[in-house]
Parts: sequence; structure tokens; C-alpha cells
Amino acid sequence: MVTLDKIVALAKRRGYIYPGSDIYGGITGFWDYGPLGVELKQNLKSAWWKSMVQLRDDVVGVDAAIIMNPKVWVASGHTDSFTDPLVECKVCHKRFRADKVDEQKEHANEHEGNVQWTEPKQFNLLTEVYLGVTEPKQKSYLRGEITQGVFVNFRNVIDSSRVKIPFGIAQIGKAFRNEITPGNFTFRSREFEQMELEYFIKPDEKEGERWFEYWKEQRMKWYQDLGISKDNLRFRDHEEKERAHYARFATDIEYRAPFGWSEFEGIHHRGDWDLGRHKLTYKAEIAGEEYTPWVIETSGGVDRAALFFLLEAYKEEEKRIVLRLNPILSPIKAAVFPLVSNKPEIVAKAKHVYQLLKQDLMVAWDDRGNIGKRYLAQDEIGTPWCVTVDYTTLEDDTVTVRDRDTTKQERINISQLVKYFQEKLRE
Ligand code: GAP
Repeated sequence: MVTLDKIVALAKRRGYIYPGSDIYGGITGFWDYGPLGVELKQNLKSAWWKSMVQLRDDVVGVDAAIIMNPKVWVASGHTDSFTDPLVECKVCHKRFRADKVDEQKEHANEHEGNVQWTEPKQFNLLTEVYLGVTEPKQKSYLRGEITQGVFVNFRNVIDSSRVKIPFGIAQIGKAFRNEITPGNFTFRSREFEQMELEYFIKPDEKEGERWFEYWKEQRMKWYQDLGISKDNLRFRDHEEKERAHYARFATDIEYRAPFGWSEFEGIHHRGDWDLGRHKLTYKAEIAGEEYTPWVIETSGGVDRAALFFLLEAYKEEEKRIVLRLNPILSPIKAAVFPLVSNKPEIVAKAKHVYQLLKQDLMVAWDDRGNIGKRYLAQDEIGTPWCVTVDYTTLEDDTVTVRDRDTTKQERINISQLVKYFQEKLRE
């Protein structure tokens, strides 16, 4: 079983994820993505966008500003209700979430059971920012969910595109929460990215149930299609008391992480909460009726997805560590090696192959050490294919392509390589 420590170590060693502000000792709840991490996140976001926007006729995208008029957060209920219950240890004054019983228990053990807690009080998670050049500066917030940027543009999107209910607006972007206890690596951060769909439907109980079930299944399938095993995924319905202030009902897609079943993505039936609060309605063209649509939301975390896909992919085998990432997600699709680095014809040919592949794919170059070691280095970062230019290449223009998962090699003509990888990436 993979531990979180192993992923944290590999992520730093190989350039997936570093602690934020590392040279100054870090800062709780913030993380930086390295050369491989940025590619992984980009690939996750592209796969999500393709499935949620590009391949659909009923969804369009937006990219709204992170900072909004503070009136938005009053209307949406976040200034009042975007809270977590906070308790403080009376012994050392450390603060915890009252609804995370395990974290409290763990802390009680540190004090050998002699711990007393303050009464829970509600702690607002919005991060304040101050803008402008005259005092007092204008107070606003970094968005606590990316969602409100979609709602405030509801009219704009209807007026400027051809969407008709039922339809969705998708968005990917950063959100910020002043989490009481950030932790489990990137799992609970104070700055993170969300990928969300707000799907607008007629206000009708049956429609609501139908679309809620539809989106639950779609999202579950997406994680499985990209390689998360069925056994490590489950739905969990929220109980009434844990539901967000905007949700009529809510289900999480959970992942079996080393630290227990944990939320991957939330599917929420937001009813008419948001559009109602922003006083926005929809006018059906044909029937002419005007109503406040209901919203079914799918809200996933890019950082959680990056972490969970890394955990799922990590395998320790007899002779190697391998990240069995779906090639679509792998940061580097192919690594190109000259068999030897002291034969100019072989190096020049390998450089030619490298430049050729680079036009269409993220590729890496490696001419250090022996081929076996180069394979191991690529396995550990999840590169699905290694291409070696050898003596035979000089005779017949073929190269060996070694597969990460089977470790088998086949010879492919250089002229067919791009097509070969593109077909594999479409499988
Ligand atoms: N718009 C709805 C919404 O924001 P949420 O359940 O609070 O719902 C949705 O958040 C997703 O955002 C979560 O399932 C998770 O993937 C991600 N997320 C939320 N808080 C996070 C945090 N502190 N760190 C990393 N990801 C987080």
C-alpha cells in the first residue's frame, strides 16, 4: 500500500510538487507545482475540458475574475454561512475543526488524553483582500468557490451565445479558503484549483433528480476512464447537517486515500439558491414562461485529482518504482535516447527524432548513463514510452519503442512515430 510520505518524497524529488515558499521554510496550506506537476495538472484540466465542454453540445465555458464585487458574496450567503465549526484546545490553544473528530482525537493523544475544548464557534473561510489607493481601502474577498463567477455571468452568457435550458457553464480556476487545518499534503490547501460545471435545468423535482443522477454517473465514469480503480471510488451522500448552505442535496465522489475515504468531488443540487439570490431568471423562448432555473453542480479539485491520480498510479515492483498513469495524464509522453552518446551519427539521428516528436508531444531527452537506468528514471515519473535510436536506426530508419507497463519493445519506422503515439493516446 502506498503511503502519503512516499508520494510527498517522490513529488519533491522528481519535480511534481514542492512546498510553497520552500526556501523560507514553507507556508501552511500552499504548494508549488514543478516542471512535471504543471504538466500533470494541465493534462487533467484538458481532459476535463474535453469531456465537459468540447465533446458536448449543451455546455460552454467561462473564465471569470478571482476578485469580485463584495456584494456577490453577501448575496450568495458566503459572508454569513461559508463557515466551518472551530474549537480550540484549552491546553495549547491550537485550533481544530469541530467536525473532524479524528483530528481532535489525534491531538488529544498528544496531550495523553488531558485535553479540554472550547465550545465550537463558526469560523468564516473567506480570505479578505483590500484594494485601491485611498483609505479606507475597499474590502473584498478572494473567491471561496469559483462558482459565483458563473452565476453573475448567467445573463451575459445567455445574451451572447445560443444556449437553451437545459445547458451548462463550465469553469476551471483558483479558489481560496482560510482552512482551519490544512493538511494531508495538497488534499486540504488554502489555495487550490477547481473544475466545475453549473448545469441549469427547469425547476422541477423529477428533472432535478434525473440530472443529479446523470451527472453523478458521468463524473464517476470520468475518474474510472482515466484509470482510478472502481474499488477505490465510492459515492457518499451528505447528511443534512454537513450540507453547504446552498445545497438541497449533495453527494461526494470519494477516493480511498491512505488517510481514509476522502472527498474527490462534490455533486450538488443547488436548487434556485444562487440565481434566486442574484435575482436572475430565464425566459423560455417558445413558451414565453419566465422562471428561476435550478442548478446541478459538479465540483472537483484539480489538486486533489493530481494527488489521487499519483497515489493510484504509484507501484513498487521488484526492480523499479513505476507511475502507471494513464498516458493522457503523463507529463512526458515519450523520452528519446541515443543508445550511445559517443557516436555522432546516432546522437544526431536521435536529436532529429526528438525535434520531430516535440512538435506534437511533450518529450524528454536523456543521454546519461546506461539505457536501463534511463528506463527506470522515466518509469518513476510515469513516461509511457521510451524511444531509442540505435545502430539499426542508421540502416533502416526504425527505432525501438519500449512500453512502460509491459516493458516490451517494438521497432517502429520514424515516419510512423507521431501517428503511432497519437493513436495510442486516443485508445
Ligand atoms: N462550488 C462548490 C464547492 O466549492 P466544495 O465541496 O466545497 O464545493 C469542491 O469543493 C471541490 O473542491 C472538492 O471536492 C475538492 O476537490 C476541492 N476542494 C475544496 N476545498 C479544498 C481544499 N481546501 N484544498 C484542495 N481542494 C479543495
